[in-house]
Amino acid sequence: MSKSNIYPISKSFVSRNEKEYLIGSKSGVFWLFGLSGSGKSTLAMELEKKLHSNHIYSIILDGDDLRSGLNQDLGFSVTDRRENIRRVSELAKTLCHAGQVTIVSCITPKNEFRETAKDIIGIKNFHGIYVKASYSECAKRDVKGLYAKASADEIESFTGKQSDFEEPENTALILDTEKEDIDDSLNRLYSFVNRMIQIK
Ligand code: ADX
Repeated sequence: MSKSNIYPISKSFVSRNEKEYLIGSKSGVFWLFGLSGSGKSTLAMELEKKLHSNHIYSIILDGDDLRSGLNQDLGFSVTDRRENIRRVSELAKTLCHAGQVTIVSCITPKNEFRETAKDIIGIKNFHGIYVKASYSECAKRDVKGLYAKASADEIESFTGKQSDFEEPENTALILDTEKEDIDDSLNRLYSFVNRMIQIK
């Protein structure tokens, strides 16, 4: 697509450093990915609460929420998921450059999508976190009833069934919610995030 006649102004905004100084923490994007029901949204919300109670401001970008607004035109084909991740990445990048600790919670089923997110957001800002739980464990939990629908063929392109979920090739942190309880995962996540956002 042509970029002619477009004049971005963001280089003249108050700088990221100045904003981080005002907010009191360094920014970054903490990108939680994993199967539906693996615990991403729960961990994102618990992380936000814990950061908040420690006087650290953060913002959550959650797949289901964004698909109810900004991304409501997208479905679950590979093409639409790719576009979903591209838009969320651009949004996360904008927030990160505005000094925000940004928590993303999206399935992000393919390594290619995780690479796209890293490329858009920037390798230094992007922290991929795999929230790991097997399909059978998520189906057992089935908080939203989607696994029951998937097994009755009432939902199309369901992740892990008709639509692939690829195991990550490399990732900054793995939270195995099948093996450890939520408090252990949260504590490991919080200390990881806290380490990355310290202003030295
Ligand atoms: S992603 O694949 O593009 O990263 P995203 O995280 O935005 O997905 O949205 C996933 C959420 O959409 C799930 O948590 C679930 O609530 C809902 N959903 C609806 N249909 C599907 C489907 N076919 N596959 C997976 N999730 C679905």
